[in-house]
Amino acid sequence: MEFTKSHGLRGEITVPGDKSISHRAVMFGSIAKGLTEIHNFLQGADCLSTIACFEKMGISIENRGDRVLVQGNGLHGLKKPDCVLDCGNSGTTTRLISGILCAQDFTVTLTGDESIQKRPMKRIMDPLSLMGADITSLQGNGCAPLLIKGGPVHGIHYPSKVASAQVKSAILLAGLYADSPTSVTEPYVSRNHSEIMLDLFGAQVSAEDTTATIQPASELNGAKVMVPGDISSAAYFIAAGLMVPGSQVLIRNVGINPTRDGILRVCQDMGADLQLLNRSEGAGEPTADILVRWGALHGTEIGGAIIPTLIDELPMIAAMACLAEGRTVIRDAAELKVKESNRIAVMVESLRSMGADVTETEDGMIIQGGRPLHGASIDSRGDHRIAMTFAVTALCADGATDIRGADCVTISYPRFYEDLQGLMV
Ligand code: S3P
Repeated sequence: MEFTKSHGLRGEITVPGDKSISHRAVMFGSIAKGLTEIHNFLQGADCLSTIACFEKMGISIENRGDRVLVQGNGLHGLKKPDCVLDCGNSGTTTRLISGILCAQDFTVTLTGDESIQKRPMKRIMDPLSLMGADITSLQGNGCAPLLIKGGPVHGIHYPSKVASAQVKSAILLAGLYADSPTSVTEPYVSRNHSEIMLDLFGAQVSAEDTTATIQPASELNGAKVMVPGDISSAAYFIAAGLMVPGSQVLIRNVGINPTRDGILRVCQDMGADLQLLNRSEGAGEPTADILVRWGALHGTEIGGAIIPTLIDELPMIAAMACLAEGRTVIRDAAELKVKESNRIAVMVESLRSMGADVTETEDGMIIQGGRPLHGASIDSRGDHRIAMTFAVTALCADGATDIRGADCVTISYPRFYEDLQGLMV
């Protein structure tokens, strides 16, 4: 797919529902008692993989477009699937579902696409095994396919080496089934959607500093979940508005949970003209409209506790830094190497091919901004966030940019290109 320089983006946009929250609503609804009604559910391929997995375990899920109805069967109401569960490209599906499956009374095999079969699963296998789970990597390489033999689990306190909401959530979900409380301490707080939503479904969850704790539950109750717009999808329009001269974009109803809002803080640090309007608290998940206007940006330093709050936005932020005056340093972001692609290597190589001055480091990159960018041929590597990042970056580059494998945006934002096109002046 080919992209060329833009003369500005103007107008309003509503981005699709949050991916993390959509996954959790289906999962928690499936193991709750009664009806769960999900509004503004993200119809992306990842979240559809989660629906398909629970349908294979006997859960009735009615997908009516932006509303999804889940008839939960209770904590012990899942049925043994008669086939391997396919998590597609979704790390969230694979890791969170493992926390649930390790406590069932059946055996199941989980797998996914080529990318999923390379992503690290030891990070959930280790803590779940400490809880008594029987979970093995069938190739012996710490990746999917995973064989999970469900059985009783017990509570643990787990000091996690990585700040990962997927790891934390897998442990907390297993903790629902345990015989004593379970807690996870992370180096920095990762997104807390599981904690917020488990509370909504009636579980006893608490959080203090970087530790989240869950009490064993007898049942969860179905709930109504209003999914806010995904800030990770909004990130592309925030960046486009800030990067393309003459732009002004209003992005409506975006989730601004403080464990996800790092991109807003970084943009403000870079001198962006960004305003939050119509703030609302929602059911534990705050939202706002985000208004951005193009203007000069300057470099910044990004590292430490802010990293988990903008981990999925770092590719877009790195590209934005190429247009900012001065140096941007991204550190403590080694997790980028184990996402849908090695996002450090891919970003450095691709930005350089467009003329940017970027140096790869152990845990991030250093960007010397302000060099003009030119079009290039970019391979998305099947990574939706790489494809969207370069569709936006191409709008600021001289000449044409060709993105190979551009259709992978269906993972998190099926209508991305139409929505981007709709804002062009
Ligand atoms: C997610 C957590 C993050 C994020 C991913 C979604 C989630 O992954 O990158 O896109 O829904 O819990 P990690 O927990 O591995 O950092």
